[in-house]
Amino acid sequence: MRIAVVFDTPYAKWTPEQHRQQMEDELAGKTGQEAELEYQVGQALIENRHEILLVGVKDDARVVLDHCVDWKPDLVVNCAEGISGAPYDYLFPGLLESAGIHYTGSPPLGLLVSRDKAMSKKILAYHGIQVPGFATWAPNEVITKAPPLRFPLIVKPLASDASEGIAQASVVGDLAELKERVEFVQQRFAQSAIAEEFIEGRELYASVIGNEATLEVLPLTELVFDKDKNAPEERIATQSTKWQEPYRRRKGIRYQFARPVSAGAKERIEAICRTACQALWLRDYARIDVRLADNDEVWVIEANANPYIARGHEVANAADKAGMPYDKFIQRIVNEAVARHERA
Ligand SMILES: Nc1ncnc2c1ncn2[C@@H]1O[C@H](COP(=O)(O)OP(=O)(O)O)[C@@H](O)[C@H]1O
Ligand SMILES: [Mg+2]
Repeated sequence: MRIAVVFDTPYAKWTPEQHRQQMEDELAGKTGQEAELEYQVGQALIENRHEILLVGVKDDARVVLDHCVDWKPDLVVNCAEGISGAPYDYLFPGLLESAGIHYTGSPPLGLLVSRDKAMSKKILAYHGIQVPGFATWAPNEVITKAPPLRFPLIVKPLASDASEGIAQASVVGDLAELKERVEFVQQRFAQSAIAEEFIEGRELYASVIGNEATLEVLPLTELVFDKDKNAPEERIATQSTKWQEPYRRRKGIRYQFARPVSAGAKERIEAICRTACQALWLRDYARIDVRLADNDEVWVIEANANPYIARGHEVANAADKAGMPYDKFIQRIVNEAVARHERA
C-alpha cells in the first residue's frame, strides 16, 4: 500500500525526503536518542513492504492535504498529536475526512471527548463505568468553597496529557492546597482545572487493539511503586515518573507487565475496555488507564484515544507480549483501519 505517515514536528519546512533522511539517522542511532514515534512507525511500514511518505506538520495543517492530494495515499497513519504544541489533534482526522482520505485511529469526536477528563468521565459514568468523583473550574473561575468530594483530591489540567502538570503537589489534602493548585493549573496551562477524588490502588494500563468483533484487550501493564512509599502523592505517574528513567530508578518505580490480577478483575477490565471504546468513539487502538482498588473494584482514570505507540512503551510492549512484535503491531493497526473501511 501507499501509506502517508502524518505527524507533528518542530521542523516547519522539512520535506518528506528530509524526514526520510532524519528517520534513517535516528534509527541508526546517530542522534543518540530514541527515534521519534513517526520514524519508528515509518520503519515498521517499510519492513511490511509499504511505500511511505513522511508528512510533518509544525503550524500549518494544510500541508497534510497538499501532500495527500498530490501523492494519493491509500491510507494515512495518523501520528499527529497537535499543532505547534497546541492540542489540535482532532483537526487531522477532520481534515482527512473532509478530503475522503482513510486514516488509522480515532475520529475527531473520540479525540475531543477523551481528551476532556470531565466529559469522558460523564460519558463513562452514564455507561455504568466507575469513575472518580470530580469538580472542574473554568480558566478564570475562583474557588469559593470546597467541592462535595472526599479529600485527598488530585488536581490536573482538564485537557492535557502525558502527565503534563502532574507532580506530587497535584495531590491536595484540604481546601487551601486545592485552591493553590487549581490556580497554578489555570495560570500555567491557561485551561480549566479538574480535581478528582484520589483512588488508591494499583495502576494498570489496558491496551486495546481492533474494533467491535476484532477488539482485543492486550496483556495488562502496570506502574509499580516502591512498597515502602505509601503516601498518595508518591504513588502516581507524575511527569518525571513518566518520562525520566533515572527518576524512576531513584524512586523505585517501574513499568512492567502487570503482576497477577484476579480473574474477576481481569474480566471486568476487559468489559470496561469494550464499553469505553464504544462509548468514547475510540477506534483501531487505544489505552484505558485504570486503578484497581484493594477490594478489587476497578476505576477508570483515563481513556487515551491517541496513546503513545513507540517501541518499549506500554501499548507496544503489550502487543509484543500478545505475539505482535513491533512491525506486526503496526501492520495490525493498518489492517484494522482497512477492514473498518471495507465494512463501512
Ligand atoms: N483520580 C485519580 N486517583 C489516583 N491517581 C490518579 C487520579 N487521576 C490521575 N492519577 C494519577 O495521575 C496520573 C496522570 O493522570 P491522567 O489523568 O492519566 O493524566 P495524563 O493525561 O496526563 O496521563 C495517572 O496515571 C495516575 O497515576
Ligand atoms: Mg494518563
